[in-house]
Amino acid sequence: MRLPFIAANWKMFKTVHESVVFVKELRLLVKDVEEVEIVIAPPFTAIHAAAEAARNTNIGVAGQDVYWERDGAFTGEIAPGMIKEAGAEYVIIGHSERRRLFGETDAIVNRKVVAALAAGLTPIACIGETLEERERNETLAVLDRQIKDGFDQLTAEQMAELVVAYEPVWAIGTGRTATAAQAGEAHAHIRSRLRQWFGADAADRCHVIYGGSVKPDNIRELLVEPDVDGALVGGASLEVKSFADIVSRSRRAAV
Ligand code: PGA
Repeated sequence: MRLPFIAANWKMFKTVHESVVFVKELRLLVKDVEEVEIVIAPPFTAIHAAAEAARNTNIGVAGQDVYWERDGAFTGEIAPGMIKEAGAEYVIIGHSERRRLFGETDAIVNRKVVAALAAGLTPIACIGETLEERERNETLAVLDRQIKDGFDQLTAEQMAELVVAYEPVWAIGTGRTATAAQAGEAHAHIRSRLRQWFGADAADRCHVIYGGSVKPDNIRELLVEPDVDGALVGGASLEVKSFADIVSRSRRAAV
């Protein structure tokens, strides 16, 4: 059974101090929630402090990006082993903002996913179509390409451990959530491709979560869809009560 997986993507928000204050509050608000996997993704600078504040709790910590080399002359980049040692167990890879603003391609996403797995991190790998692609009816073809190229060379066992975030770009930060039917269709398609390319066991175990204007008042209807296993939450994760509400509302919708 896939437990609901709810992750907070803080993007370029929150200092070390603000992150620690958030985690201390969140800890209390979700301390009794056992049947949901809860993850927060602070900026690099706050990973260590957030992970310390989350130690021995049900809250995991993620990086928001990572480089694929183990070390070397790559000014400004951060290696998988570095965020792991700082306390992260997960890492977001290929977020649409990275793709759009920083030129990340499926090939780059692939190198990062492979490197993160090799370092023992669980990738939260983002895929999703732009508005133009949806309007041209290319959504499923775009997802196919992102899965094929982004997850190239992964074994079935690695695929089973991955968290795939379906984030339609037109729904991110726009207040425009995909309808449950739109999310359900895309997630079912992703799951069927995972089954076809990585086998039934990998497809059944892999979490496919939805991202794009998720809020406390729409999480339940999204999780009703059988292939929606959780959410990657941006804006609504910055305020602790709102994020805790999303976590607790995903409980009974366990898939
Ligand atoms: P949003 O962001 O919830 O603010 O739409 C989601 C994301 O970018 O992961």
